[in-house]
Amino acid sequence: MSEFLLPFLGRMHPVLVHLPIGILIFGILLCFFPQKEKNALLPSIRLAFLIGGIAALLAGGSGFLQYQWEGFAWEDIQSHLIGGVFTSLGSFGMYLLVKKQDGVTSKIRVLALVLGVVLGITGHLGGNLTHGEDYFMEVLPADLQALFGAAIQPELGPQLTEENWENAQLYAEVIQPILNKNCKSCHNPRTQKGELDLSSLEGLRKGGEAGFVIIAGDAAHSELFARLLLPKEDEKHMPPAEKNQPSKAEIALIESWIKSGAQESGTLAAAGIAKNLIERFILKNELPFYPKTELSPIAADSLASVKAAGMFAEAVEAGSGLLKITCTNFPAFQDADWKQLAPLKNRIAYLDLSGTKVTDAIIGQLGGLPNLTVLKLNSTKISGKELGKLSQIKNLKLLYLNGTGVTLPQIQALSASNSLEKVFGYETPAALELTSAGKVSFPFLFEGSTYSLPKLATDSIVY
Ligand code: HEC
Repeated sequence: MSEFLLPFLGRMHPVLVHLPIGILIFGILLCFFPQKEKNALLPSIRLAFLIGGIAALLAGGSGFLQYQWEGFAWEDIQSHLIGGVFTSLGSFGMYLLVKKQDGVTSKIRVLALVLGVVLGITGHLGGNLTHGEDYFMEVLPADLQALFGAAIQPELGPQLTEENWENAQLYAEVIQPILNKNCKSCHNPRTQKGELDLSSLEGLRKGGEAGFVIIAGDAAHSELFARLLLPKEDEKHMPPAEKNQPSKAEIALIESWIKSGAQESGTLAAAGIAKNLIERFILKNELPFYPKTELSPIAADSLASVKAAGMFAEAVEAGSGLLKITCTNFPAFQDADWKQLAPLKNRIAYLDLSGTKVTDAIIGQLGGLPNLTVLKLNSTKISGKELGKLSQIKNLKLLYLNGTGVTLPQIQALSASNSLEKVFGYETPAALELTSAGKVSFPFLFEGSTYSLPKLATDSIVY
């Protein structure tokens, strides 16, 4: 027998598995198909399970060959293999059972369904092996991924700090993250394009189909680096031209690492890396103004109805899933119009209802907005009696109540908020009360009338 035959048959496994899947599903469906003449389908059902069983056996045999020749680990394939054995045995079992019975009994139907489940699980486990567990998940929007608890983190590249970047490890904290970001999608243990795995040092050192890709100390002759420098038109250029390209700094860092000996350990300082090369990987310490969320950016057409109603809507920042909604061009907006915004509840971070017809009744709705950060209710009929509910919004930072009926004790009710930074209350009863109230303090800054009260580190109010 030629040497290639067995590995070749092994590679037929992903093709052959579809036979038992199709035939057995057909057999299972037949068990539930209404029959005009009593038991007219019985011989077909029997045949389907017989051929299905044989097909499962063939698929299993090729699978075993693939396991032997392709270096799969036993731990990875064992459940799939056991599932395959059960599927095959189950099919023959069904064949014998159907042969003995003279009608499609409920016993047959139940066992057929059980076989279907085993088949499904086996197929799923096999799919995980070839396509990866995140195959389906990967293409879902981030919201849905989060729903299944499997949000896939994008590769962020290196993440260094201003204080300590010189002491960061060059390979582990800079080079591998750069490769993860630019190369790993095609060069990982599962998808080894060019037989190259760039997701670990082991893979890097092993090289690809043409041999070593790194020659320590000699970047120019290292395939991994040389391919980055090839003109984009060159078909050997990496990453392929249509993909995201690494930045000049990232390429220079890879070069420095190879020149410095392509070691596993060693700091940036030891390799003489200049700060300008890693500047953009230094995490800024400033706190983001809007809350960090996993919401993906919203599609423009999802905002069409809100915009058609006269509201202004856009992302608070480029790429953010959070929204800024302004109703200044929709002065007729009233409490009942909230229903148009309610579906965007989790996304609204900036809401301007100034000058609209909203009343105290809207406050209860606003209290349930998890990401609301800026709220403008200037010149509305808000009396303030529900105001305390706004302290439930855990991200609210700026609250504008200019020209409303709010009073000082109502503002006080906001003291329960841990997030409020500033409340504006020009031309309000509260502002007038302030002038006569004397010493007042809130855990946030209150701006009204001509005074502005400093934020104090206490959440008590003292008259
Ligand atoms: C979109 C998929 C894709 C991405 C992303 C990608 N590559 Fe590749 N790579 C390939 C394919 C396909 C081959 C095999 C064909 C060839 O040799 O050009 C390959 C081959 C290689 C080889 C040659 C391996 C050998 O021994 O023949 C090197 C080196 C390489 N890639 C480096 C990289 C580096 C470094 C990155 C990231 C900066 C990268 N690749 C990103 C698809 C990709």
